[in-house]
Amino acid sequence: MSLIEVKNLKVHYPIRGGFFNRVVDNVKAVDGVSFSIEEGETIGLVGESGSGKSTTGKAIIGLEEITSGSILYKGKDVTKRTHRKQLKYDEAVQMIFQDSMSSLNPRKRIEDIIAEPLRNFEHLSKDEEKLRVLQLLDIVGLDPDALYKYPHQFSGGQRQRIGVARAVATDPSLIIADEPVSALDLSVQAQVLNFMKKIQREFNISYLFISHDLGVVRHMCDKIAIMHRGRLVEVGTRDDIYDNPQHIYTKRLLAAIPETNVNNREQNRERRLKIEQEYQNEQSQYYDADGLAFPLVQISDTHFVALPKESLNKQGEVNG
Ligand SMILES: Nc1ncnc2c1ncn2[C@@H]1O[C@H](COP(=O)(O)OP(=O)(O)OP(=O)(O)O)[C@@H](O)[C@H]1O
Ligand SMILES: [Mg+2]
Repeated sequence: MSLIEVKNLKVHYPIRGGFFNRVVDNVKAVDGVSFSIEEGETIGLVGESGSGKSTTGKAIIGLEEITSGSILYKGKDVTKRTHRKQLKYDEAVQMIFQDSMSSLNPRKRIEDIIAEPLRNFEHLSKDEEKLRVLQLLDIVGLDPDALYKYPHQFSGGQRQRIGVARAVATDPSLIIADEPVSALDLSVQAQVLNFMKKIQREFNISYLFISHDLGVVRHMCDKIAIMHRGRLVEVGTRDDIYDNPQHIYTKRLLAAIPETNVNNREQNRERRLKIEQEYQNEQSQYYDADGLAFPLVQISDTHFVALPKESLNKQGEVNG
């Protein structure tokens, strides 16, 4: 049984307008997304800005109202708030954000920031609480004197460690990490990713790792879901996605990964131009009249692609 199952999730935001401020249209931020997260697994959710990644993450943790579809936690329906309490879902699922400066309350000391989820969910004595917070600081590699400091007294990388310490305080099964390293220098990114991995192994945590960059998620993720305009266009293992991409949008994201080796830059530029041309020529086949991707089709045990209609017909001919 999967830890989390997301089934045909839709989150539509109403757009109001006119004299009576009526709902005139909807932004279909998430428009029929299904995937599962296994225990201890990292799944990457990747796509360009505005594709609906954060909305998906926030809907799973309950920060965003779900228009339709369902979320199962260990096989039980937690779509409704009332069901979550019994199953201790709010303790089991935590989130860390890109912007640690605004997600950590600047007026609170680190001790209080990290203790907050403990105070919400566990009834510890003052001494027990302090001990737990010190353990958590140790886990993320910060000194005990951090307890009495404020967020602005730390670097971006250190603040992200504090965010992780707060997220692991309740011993969660899943952490939703929304662009956790995008605001950090490359060298600090690697540090934060490494200790996130270490913590995952120690506590058997699953991650939903949200990023716009296929380069960053490559070494983190077992499975990757590519999102475009509120829909998933491709889901597969790391090898499926990086070695055998099928959707034109996935190919385009792959071509956009910056080349770090100077010797390969020219070659990479040519490849990017070729893919860009392919994208311009073939784009229309991969999306319906509204510019939305088709439903996912399973093409191997692990690999799912929103194939163009035409190739579906061809497959039908072959199979039929
Ligand atoms: N509260 C809201 N009201 C109306 N529209 C919203 C709201 N929140 C998000 N949207 C819209 O929903 C779409 C998806 O937004 P979302 O934040 O999920 O994208 P994202 O993939 O996380 O992008 P980014 O990479 O920039 O963080 C966007 O078009 C956005 O403008
Ligand atoms: Mg986002």
